[in-house]
Amino acid sequence: MKGVILAGGTGSRLRPITHTGPKQLVPIANKPVLEYAVDDLVEAEIDEIGIILGNKGRDEIQEYFGDGSDWGVEITYIVQGEPLGLAHAVGCAKDFVGDDSFVVYLGDDLMREGITELVEDFDSEKYAAGIGLQEVDEPSRYGIVDVNDGGDVIQLVEKPDDPPNNLALIGIYVFTPAIFDQIESLEKSWRGEYEITEAIQGLLDDGKRIQSHMVYGWWKDTGKPEDILHTNRLVLDGIKTSIKGTVENEESVTGRIELGDGSVIEQGAVVRGPVSIGEDTTIRSDTYLGPYTSIGDKCVIDGGHIESSVVVGESEISAERTIVDSLIGRKATITANHKKKPDGERLIIGQNSSLEL
Ligand code: TTP
Repeated sequence: MKGVILAGGTGSRLRPITHTGPKQLVPIANKPVLEYAVDDLVEAEIDEIGIILGNKGRDEIQEYFGDGSDWGVEITYIVQGEPLGLAHAVGCAKDFVGDDSFVVYLGDDLMREGITELVEDFDSEKYAAGIGLQEVDEPSRYGIVDVNDGGDVIQLVEKPDDPPNNLALIGIYVFTPAIFDQIESLEKSWRGEYEITEAIQGLLDDGKRIQSHMVYGWWKDTGKPEDILHTNRLVLDGIKTSIKGTVENEESVTGRIELGDGSVIEQGAVVRGPVSIGEDTTIRSDTYLGPYTSIGDKCVIDGGHIESSVVVGESEISAERTIVDSLIGRKATITANHKKKPDGERLIIGQNSSLEL
């Protein structure tokens, strides 16, 4: 079995963060979203991985993962370019996949329980594809899958008004090469994309069998800022304390903390975990870091209160204010203006930013 990770796309819902880099490299608890997918494939003993790249952030992704040897796998990069849809992205992997079965992982998804069970369960003798399903609360917002008592898929319905059940298609699939014929015969949907659900429906229409697999642990798409913050909370809930940097006063640090090499929590700073701090970051005295916060590499946090937020990295925050539920992109500077007149917030904000003051 091979692995294909889709890391192209536009990332429009995550602007302005995605104006300068791919969404798949946004860190969750100081690890890029895409690395969770690579780790899940490694855990499932898949050692040949194809990463589909779009036009954005190609170099950064290749630089980060290299040839895959740091993960003990062989990574092949495949350029999709324009994001013409998930089916088109999968179609780009045809030569890489050859005659093998392959698992497809959406590069901005995270799954608590990984994919090992789904991969091991898949029976390529009987089935042309396998899909991961999860129960959801609002089925009319999702692609819903009707299954029979044996778990075989009967039908896929996109955002149904009258859902047959609450089993939604999540972003994890296993395919045999039979999917490529379906992809090649697709036409663009009303939203101008080649849809993977239509390719899977095509397999069913041709009389092929599709296996379903229930996924019970949490599954998150990190396509929007609030999803990143929520996923960050879920991941931080599972971290263990690991202190590689320096804590000047251990009494002011409580809960589970990750502190990277070269980072310092200075005397007088208070940190309440779960908190993840990357490498070469300084948390100055008079700073309070509250639960569910991730601070990336090479940051200086000097005073103020940050809680339930993600600071991507290389940022300087000395605002002496309370920052909550915030996603702060790379190389951001936030300073205090308490001595300036007139009193008020001074903002220099990029296109597509969104603030709640
Ligand atoms: P989406 O989040 O559905 O698409 P997007 O990245 O274009 O996001 P937005 O709607 O915010 O503009 O994509 C899911 C994953 O699949 C994500 O990792 C990007 C990847 N992808 C491709 O690789 N190629 C594609 O053509 C598309 C549409 C997505």
